Amino acid sequence: MDPIPSSAPWADVALESRSATKHLARALAEGVEPGDLVILSGPLGAGKTFLVRATLRALGLPERERVTSPTFSLVHEYDLRLRVLHADLYRLAQDDELDPLGLREERASGSILLVEWGEPHAQRLGADALTIELVVSARATTRRALLRASGARSAASLQRTCASLRVRAERRT
Ligand SMILES: Nc1ncnc2c1ncn2[C@@H]1O[C@H](COP(=O)(O)OP(=O)(O)O)[C@@H](O)[C@H]1O
Ligand SMILES: [Mg+2]
Repeated sequence: MDPIPSSAPWADVALESRSATKHLARALAEGVEPGDLVILSGPLGAGKTFLVRATLRALGLPERERVTSPTFSLVHEYDLRLRVLHADLYRLAQDDELDPLGLREERASGSILLVEWGEPHAQRLGADALTIELVVSARATTRRALLRASGARSAASLQRTCASLRVRAERRT
């Protein structure tokens, strides 16, 4: 994991409904820039793929194009207003299977990476990640998103996302 800078911003967003998650996705689509790494974490069924799908729609993916989880292929590519790679690393058996996917190089050339189950691999993906942790309450009735940045680039993207959401980003003290 990155050492979290002492001034790293974070935000806590309530997701009372699917439309609240779509609202977050639209803000994220406005907040990200080429070369950003966004890591989606949280348990199975938390809404990671749902959030990715809504973000892709907000970036211009037509409704007729389905978004499925890249569970077996590991990566799906989308050439939209920005080039976006959606990865799901749940089935990545070993660390050394990651590099051949070329995600880090794609990122370096400006693709946005949206990576489910990416937390253990943040360093290999080039660090400085905006992590969105989806938290589901015990009865699965309410959800929250915890956004945090681990570097300067992700902090800027988090700030833009929060500004678009009209949510105030907090700073660690
Ligand atoms: N507020 C919400 N945000 C996102 N998904 C929600 C929400 N409320 C209910 N859901 C449902 O939860 C499920 C999340 O599934 P999915 O996105 O595939 O999870 P994950 O990728 O985290 O395993 C979807 O069926 C979605 O319709
Ligand atoms: Mg998923």
